[in-house]
Amino acid sequence: MAFSISNFYKNLFPPKVQSFLGVDIGASSIKVVQLTRKHDRAVLETYGEIALAPYDGKEMGKAMNLPPDKIAEALIDLCRESSVTAKRAAVAIPFVASLVSLIEMPTSDQKQLAQMIPIEARKYIPVPISEVSLDWSIVPKEAKMFQAENEIKTEKTDVMVVAIHNDTITKYQEIGAKTNLNAAFYEIEMFSTIRALLDQNSKSAMIVDIGAGTTKLYVVERGVIKNSHLVNRGSQDITLAISNANSISFVEAENLKRSTDISSTQSDRNIIGIIAITLDYIFSEANQVLLSYEKKYAKTVDQVILIGGGSLLKGILPTAKRSFQIDVTLGDPFSKVEAPAFLRDVLKTANPEFSVAVGAALRMLQES
Ligand SMILES: Nc1ncnc2c1ncn2[C@@H]1O[C@H](COP(=O)(O)OP(=O)(O)OP(=O)(O)O)[C@@H](O)[C@H]1O
Ligand SMILES: [Mg+2]
Repeated sequence: MAFSISNFYKNLFPPKVQSFLGVDIGASSIKVVQLTRKHDRAVLETYGEIALAPYDGKEMGKAMNLPPDKIAEALIDLCRESSVTAKRAAVAIPFVASLVSLIEMPTSDQKQLAQMIPIEARKYIPVPISEVSLDWSIVPKEAKMFQAENEIKTEKTDVMVVAIHNDTITKYQEIGAKTNLNAAFYEIEMFSTIRALLDQNSKSAMIVDIGAGTTKLYVVERGVIKNSHLVNRGSQDITLAISNANSISFVEAENLKRSTDISSTQSDRNIIGIIAITLDYIFSEANQVLLSYEKKYAKTVDQVILIGGGSLLKGILPTAKRSFQIDVTLGDPFSKVEAPAFLRDVLKTANPEFSVAVGAALRMLQES
């Protein structure tokens, strides 16, 4: 057997398994997902979730806006409870804290774009440019099969410009500093989400992320976000409505929401009616976004994918299918991830609220 110095050293100092953490600080809870790489596959090591409301003495499940030290406290508890060992993390920034605009530019030259975008972005961003950090990426052009003879060739480039308020970045840096985690990068949650759920070969889709406080809508084609939209309603609105209508506590209303199958004839008609008001609102905005996309690009979207804790509502799928003219499915955030036997069983139950955390961890894995 040939002796190899490198093998000798490898055996003396076996390479440490590198683990990466995706962190999603949602309005109602923090989610973490720890991945590692095995034979070029992403493998799940651990994952977990912790409610934020108890850190401010409120009822579990409520959407919160906590200061950095409280969030850090919850994140430290969550990492301990989930036996997180990774030290490097990718942290998702909420879509609400970002401003996304699709801007048409007259050039695709990177240098020119770098000069022009901060000036052009002023028209779209309602706060002084000095108060935000700007990032942008070119939306790839469609490969055109035919070019009409009389079509004028213009060098129009769609650029997705993202602005994040500097206060938000400072807040996230503070959370990072208070925990033992080394935040390798921050990215807006929509980019994490689509990485977990879709790729270049996926059918076009509208992702509907029903969170606690808000619902996020992304239209994605060949893995690229073509449109995004925030709906100011989330699953918490359902709980609040049930609580008000029946004069019961938030906790009781939350339990009632989770136990009601909205597609079953056995369920209380009144509760179904209350739940339907919020769902109709969300689905009707989603339909409007679909319609305007179809008008702009003259093509239809293939499917709707529901994610977020709000999509765990029993019987949501038949209801959603009635609202949309296209196929509707529930997203599986762990579809790109392998799981060891001890985690496989729990993963069989839907975990649609982990899409953001999985996507963030996947990026770390890809870039390591
Ligand atoms: N089994 C269930 N049935 C119905 N609703 C559920 C269920 N589980 C969780 N939810 C709801 O999902 C919501 C939380 O979803 P999620 O964790 O995706 O939100 P978040 O990420 O904290 O919030 P946001 O995305 O708005 O920042 C809560 O309103 C909760 O009541
Ligand atoms: Mg969320």
